[in-house]
Amino acid sequence: MTHRGTKSANTADRWIPDAVYTFSDGGSEAAAFAQKCRAVIGTCDVHRFPDAETLVTVTPAEPLAGRVVAIYRSLHEPNAKLVELMLAADALRALGVQKLVLVAPYLPYMRQDRAFKPGQAVSQMTIGGLLADKFDGLVTIQPHLHRTKSLSAVFKGKPAFDLGAGRTIGAHMQSTCDPRSVVVGPDEESEALVRDVVDILGTSWFLARKVRRGDTDVAIELPQDLSIENHPITIVDDIVSSGGTIATLAKALKRAGAGEITVYAVHALFDERAADLMSKAGVSKIRSLTTVPHATNCVAVADLICAGLGVHNDG
Ligand code: R5P
Repeated sequence: MTHRGTKSANTADRWIPDAVYTFSDGGSEAAAFAQKCRAVIGTCDVHRFPDAETLVTVTPAEPLAGRVVAIYRSLHEPNAKLVELMLAADALRALGVQKLVLVAPYLPYMRQDRAFKPGQAVSQMTIGGLLADKFDGLVTIQPHLHRTKSLSAVFKGKPAFDLGAGRTIGAHMQSTCDPRSVVVGPDEESEALVRDVVDILGTSWFLARKVRRGDTDVAIELPQDLSIENHPITIVDDIVSSGGTIATLAKALKRAGAGEITVYAVHALFDERAADLMSKAGVSKIRSLTTVPHATNCVAVADLICAGLGVHNDG
């Protein structure tokens, strides 16, 4: 069975790209996405000058008038990548691109959605606005939009595809899932993700309560009267970064008698130190989606992105 992009003639009503440009860190996921869209693959090469400025060159550099073009780039460790992205977007615009779409499986800077103290930048709006100035459409997976109603609001009202990862996680767990498993979200904000997972699995679930006291310091409270003695637990969270949330939750679950604990992270932003912290807290396995390249990747997202854009399987 092959996936084939179905393309209508009018670029105004479609988002499936004719060409997908990637950076050297795009990996096999970017190539898989391009292939499923039956798009030409292009590259964005980055040259670093001795003074640390960069020059971006897109190849092929042929006229792209009337074309829908996507840049595929996951934006973890984002600062340098954002500058490179702006340069690539303008280089493609100069080739006459009709519609320029950003496919960013991980969209950064979404957590700071308000000024929590006077003088703080609202990074979500700044970075969203910056991207909206350069791109006509945005595709991302499970963005951290807890207090913001829609991704489009972050993207200056332009079209934005916010693809939930819960059903993909549920489908991945399905064949090996113990019916006694309990799915747990670390906080109320994880409810939609958890619900999508258990929609597929049909297992029981609950949410913990989290209070964040600092970058790496969180307090977690479990619901009263839990009965999870020896039950396998799967924790799902959108982002795992310092590992503090998962480690604190895992310790609380173990104190409550939990059996084996597995973690599914949509965006694995954590390092080995955090992995060690989570393991010492009682986490046995950590799995993640390919939104961010990571040693724990095991759930590919190319199909999810294609489905979100309307690339369907007609072969
Ligand atoms: C917070 O609202 C997010 O959903 C994650 O729980 C959080 O970003 C995890 O961060 P860390 O791993 O640093 O605790």
